[in-house]
Amino acid sequence: MDNSSTEFKMIQSVVLDDANDTLIILDQTVLPNEKVFLHLKEMKDIWDAIYKLKVRGAPAIGIAAAYGLYLGTKASQAETYEGLYKDFAEVKTFLASSRPTAVNLFWALNRMESRLLQEAGKSLSEVKEALRQEAEWIREEDEQVCESIGKHALSLLKENWGILTHCNAGTIATAKYGTALAPIYLGQEQGYNFKVYADETRPLLQGARLTAWELKEAGVDVTLICDNMSSIVMKEGKVQAVLVGCDRVAANGDTANKIGTSGVAILAKHYGIPFYVCSPLSTIDLECKTGDDIHIELRSDDEVTSQWYEKPMAPKDVQVYNPAFDVTDHSLITAIVTQNGIAYAPFEESLPKMFDQK
Ligand code: MRU
Repeated sequence: MDNSSTEFKMIQSVVLDDANDTLIILDQTVLPNEKVFLHLKEMKDIWDAIYKLKVRGAPAIGIAAAYGLYLGTKASQAETYEGLYKDFAEVKTFLASSRPTAVNLFWALNRMESRLLQEAGKSLSEVKEALRQEAEWIREEDEQVCESIGKHALSLLKENWGILTHCNAGTIATAKYGTALAPIYLGQEQGYNFKVYADETRPLLQGARLTAWELKEAGVDVTLICDNMSSIVMKEGKVQAVLVGCDRVAANGDTANKIGTSGVAILAKHYGIPFYVCSPLSTIDLECKTGDDIHIELRSDDEVTSQWYEKPMAPKDVQVYNPAFDVTDHSLITAIVTQNGIAYAPFEESLPKMFDQK
């Protein structure tokens, strides 16, 4: 990442300011036009930031929720462990209702609960401190996880390749490096000279606003395309691999990611291009047997009909269907890259093995 700006290298999209009981997040809804950090103290504001995608991307949502749950519990006036647990559970349920698809949200909240249970019997200040530490670990571990995913994924790529990506699975969607963008950053450091095609990703334009911005800031050769242009760039031989992130991977490898991902996978299959999903283990949900078990978030009509809820782009009151994610069938996925290695089909067998490796 030698060409990248120092400011970008240091960017962290989610930070805890413990001294001020504040969660600081980079507001991803105003990028790339403005770089605004929001200082959030109230639980309803943290909920709202997740719901409105001010903080977004499965790992970043999990990190924000863990910090939020810590801050909410820290504010508890309870004088007993049971009272503290009750307040913790209320905050947990509230934050869990912010978005349904990315399993990292629930994974992080549950991990915080396990820690709370382990601390039973300790003083309340010790319990609160343990929750702070657990939330910090979730963030720190994500950084290492993303780096490992980057190394494994890079082993699948060759110099000068064209790589297509959808949505934003980059550094701002995680603690650092990103998942699908991690091998691109690592490759950049090692002179791989990748050419990245970023799908704009309608309706909220995570590809245009965030991925194109991130990669450009890092000095990566990135070309922005509209979602309906991925077929032509594949047909013209410009793309040698597709790399995407994910919000939830089922036990059979079916993968929920940003709406439009499954269409890209179908095109990649047609053109014989490998389709790789980059997934932290925290995004793999073995409780979901197939993609049919994954709850797909439906979002407001306004996201499709108006530009950022402002200028109309469609007739007033037109019917709209706005699923935020789709499920890519496992048969379209060449491999799922985790921090512990690369899983190939049959995924029912390879994914559980990833959890065993340390
Ligand atoms: O609705 P979003 O922007 O939160 O959707 C994000 C995605 O679909 C990402 O690809 C996914 O969370 C992986 S982020 C490393």
